[in-house]
Amino acid sequence: MARFARSIESNGQRHHLRRDRRRAGPPRQPASKTGKLRNVSKTAMVDHYSLVQQLTGHALSNADRSRRLHDFAYELGWRPSDRMDLPEADEFALGHLIVEHGLQNTAVISFLRQPSRFPDLNTSQQKVLLNASYNNLVDWHINIDYDGVSFVYNRFKPPQFYVYRDRISRANVARLSSGEFEKLSTDHPSPNVPALDDALIETISLWKRQLGSEVTGMSTESLSALFNAVIFARAAEDHARATRGHVESDGRAFSARLLPEIFERTANLTLRSVLGEALATLTSGGIPASVVDLDALAVFDGLSPLTASEFLDDFYRNRYARYFEYDFSLMSKHALSRIYERYVSVLRIPQTRQTTLFPPLAQEHLERSYGNVYTPEFIARFFAKYLRRQLPLGTFQRLKVADPACGSGIFLRTILELQHEVLLDNMTTEAVARLFRNVLGLDIDPNACQAARLSLSLLALVLMDRLPDIIHIVNSESVEYFQEHPELSGSIDAVIANPPFVTIEAQSDELKDRVGRLLGEAGKGRVDLYLAILRLGMEMLRPGGFGLFVLPQNFLLAESARGMRTYLSERAWIHCLADLSAVPIFGDVGVYVILLIVQRLPGLQQTAPRATILRAQDMVGQALQDVLESRLIESPYYSIYEVGQEVFRENVWSVLPPQSAAIQKKFSEFSELRSFAQPSQGIITGADDVFLIPKHQVPKGESSIYLSFLSDREMEAYTVPPRTSRYFFYPFVDGKLLDEVGLREGFPRTWEYLESHRERLERRKTVISGSVVWWRPERPRDPKTLMRPKIVTPHLVISPRFALDTTGFLAVSHAPMVIAKVRELEYDHLRFLLAVLNSSSCFWYISQHSHSYQRGYSRLEARTLGRTRIPNPLKVDPIIVRRLVRLVDERIETAGPKMFSLEGDIDEVVADLYGMTPSERRLVGMEVAR
Ligand SMILES: C[S@@+](CC[C@H](N)C(=O)[O-])C[C@H]1O[C@@H](n2cnc3c(N)ncnc32)[C@H](O)[C@@H]1O
Repeated sequence: MARFARSIESNGQRHHLRRDRRRAGPPRQPASKTGKLRNVSKTAMVDHYSLVQQLTGHALSNADRSRRLHDFAYELGWRPSDRMDLPEADEFALGHLIVEHGLQNTAVISFLRQPSRFPDLNTSQQKVLLNASYNNLVDWHINIDYDGVSFVYNRFKPPQFYVYRDRISRANVARLSSGEFEKLSTDHPSPNVPALDDALIETISLWKRQLGSEVTGMSTESLSALFNAVIFARAAEDHARATRGHVESDGRAFSARLLPEIFERTANLTLRSVLGEALATLTSGGIPASVVDLDALAVFDGLSPLTASEFLDDFYRNRYARYFEYDFSLMSKHALSRIYERYVSVLRIPQTRQTTLFPPLAQEHLERSYGNVYTPEFIARFFAKYLRRQLPLGTFQRLKVADPACGSGIFLRTILELQHEVLLDNMTTEAVARLFRNVLGLDIDPNACQAARLSLSLLALVLMDRLPDIIHIVNSESVEYFQEHPELSGSIDAVIANPPFVTIEAQSDELKDRVGRLLGEAGKGRVDLYLAILRLGMEMLRPGGFGLFVLPQNFLLAESARGMRTYLSERAWIHCLADLSAVPIFGDVGVYVILLIVQRLPGLQQTAPRATILRAQDMVGQALQDVLESRLIESPYYSIYEVGQEVFRENVWSVLPPQSAAIQKKFSEFSELRSFAQPSQGIITGADDVFLIPKHQVPKGESSIYLSFLSDREMEAYTVPPRTSRYFFYPFVDGKLLDEVGLREGFPRTWEYLESHRERLERRKTVISGSVVWWRPERPRDPKTLMRPKIVTPHLVISPRFALDTTGFLAVSHAPMVIAKVRELEYDHLRFLLAVLNSSSCFWYISQHSHSYQRGYSRLEARTLGRTRIPNPLKVDPIIVRRLVRLVDERIETAGPKMFSLEGDIDEVVADLYGMTPSERRLVGMEVAR
């Protein structure tokens, strides 16, 4: 295999190669159901070399070129997401494809016109190409010419870049396949140019702060109107240049930069009048105030001309990547969805409706009270493509779509993009206009609505060269809107939403009331707002319509979601459930999600589909692509399998692969732990920083009201440490809770210490509400439960670490603990239980039923432990119970390598008790000889 030449290695040095995870090219493609990787070039029917010669030659008609581009993509394993028109490159390039992998746009492929070759293009020609990929948020530009291919990584040292060049010949065209690109795309220097979205968001954020300190009376609304106006004007300008080659008004052509030119031409112009004039020039008939509210720009009238001109300038030239120019027309089509999501977040800061009287250099923090965590584009693409695959083309194009929590409109926009992509060669302006009429978005946030209108308007502008006649984006609270518009029920073909996750505590009384009324029977317990949005989304669907939702992972298990699970299982088919909770989809905001795709039962009798289940640990984009292609896969990164609809009739949706389901069935025949032991939760103080103190701070003579604190970090499997470093204030004497007098008089130094922290302690919610006196921990737990031999465990675990506190003197915080129900059998039962809980089999079961976090952590709760299925020691053969108790005692006494063989023995005995087969033992992580 020929090696690629690295034509550029700056200063002759090798760069540190790093994988930029967010934008890196696709990772290795996993094997398909048949275990084989798709080998595109071997199965090819067409001579690839001739194809390249045709695509870089002059002889093709437009229609032939279009067909040949498709052939190329198909033959070499590329998944084109769009074609790109680049009139400025017509002189030296014949066509451009945007290709994707794992639902992310990965590269732009350009075919250069013979005799052009990428290395021979002059600097400005190269810039036309690379500016285009950069403005599409794509890091790689693959330039194919008659003689070879140049893979250019555009985020390193422009104008040299990082380039791989390889010759092609009839015998060597494999380099052009997507598989080869996959291999090389992860190998590039660390980018030293920010990606387009980072640069633009940084620019917006910078101006937001700068204007905040210069403009008195600036509100979030006026700021949003300003950015919307400038983005719209820039997009319309770039679009006019791309389609007509120039911008003109009253017969007069403008130079390359319309806004600065208008600004410089006339004295005393304001941003408002410049943008107004530009928009009038660029759009016939002006622009509706619902999209760009020019009146709201009045507050910027006093801005100094210098600042205004610098502001406008920053939306042409990229402040953070000087080589590149913004092309808002290109961005509007492909990149803006991603940018808008972040744009709306930036606008929210600070979250206040009031005008800023004394504008600070705005402190930026993300306001999450609306549950506004925005969806990454690849999830929106997955939903859109899923729908596309479920529906006949004609239906897909007439789809009525609604998003009841639309934010900046990413879902609606992505559906429209795909509908347009599908129409591509036979679209009429009327067909495109109809697509826009068929969408409905609701959002409580006015700025998000503005951004959604802008985003959809711009898309319309680039797709059909005019604004849509109507955009149904409504600024409203969705539950209220739905209740006031009964005609919406059963009227929509597809509802797509990433509903806000808002706990009951964060809901206003009015909202709580509405949610309660909407959910009725299905709304028992502490219902989160997302359940109401899910419900109204389902109610909007016509029979046979599809609902596609991003939901929190606890939807599968939570008691408060049970009503909605039942509702779905009775009225809909589950088509796909993708558990992405092990993957940080939303970065580090602590939100763990599933994707749920359901179909309202169609009116006609039809056979229920099997549901596709995806459980992903990594490579989510690829995994979702495989779901789209109906591949069933078991890989270290993810599994895709099918289950019948009956599993959704269970109380909880712990949807498992067949073998796991078989194990679950076995477990279900055993008793719940709570039938012979008592699980409970450790101490909760509400102010650990005060109630938990280092040993040396325990006042002399007062140690009887302190308990040794065992932290999660100090816990090991089986044993507890001989001493711990911190102590809990535990106000019990002789098993009785102290009162204030008893504490003040009997333990004066402790009282003095607590008094010194009184203010902090009084700030606790429970103290404010009057349920706890200020000096007491919130839930200190009764000594009868706490000060007994007990099993303890950390709250968050990745492997079992149940330990036995034989003396009962240790206190744990938040994490669960277990005591025996029958005191006389305590010794045996706790040891037996310890063996079972620490076994691979039982821990597998526990982690399947617990809330899971990134990197495989599970959160253990007393309730989950109580429901864990355990062989009942009262029913197990006493010889086996004694054997396990002996093994546990030995394990507690043992240190060093022998521990492992004892644990192995315990594992085997417990697996025998559960009746696990060899392959089931392997599945739960035991080592089994093959
Ligand atoms: C998780 S974001 C999703 C935004 C967008 N659909 C996306 O997927 O990126 C939730 C959105 O719901 C909106 N929202 C919150 N409460 C709402 C309510 N009661 N009615 C309508 N929209 C609401 C927020 O403003 C936010 O834009």
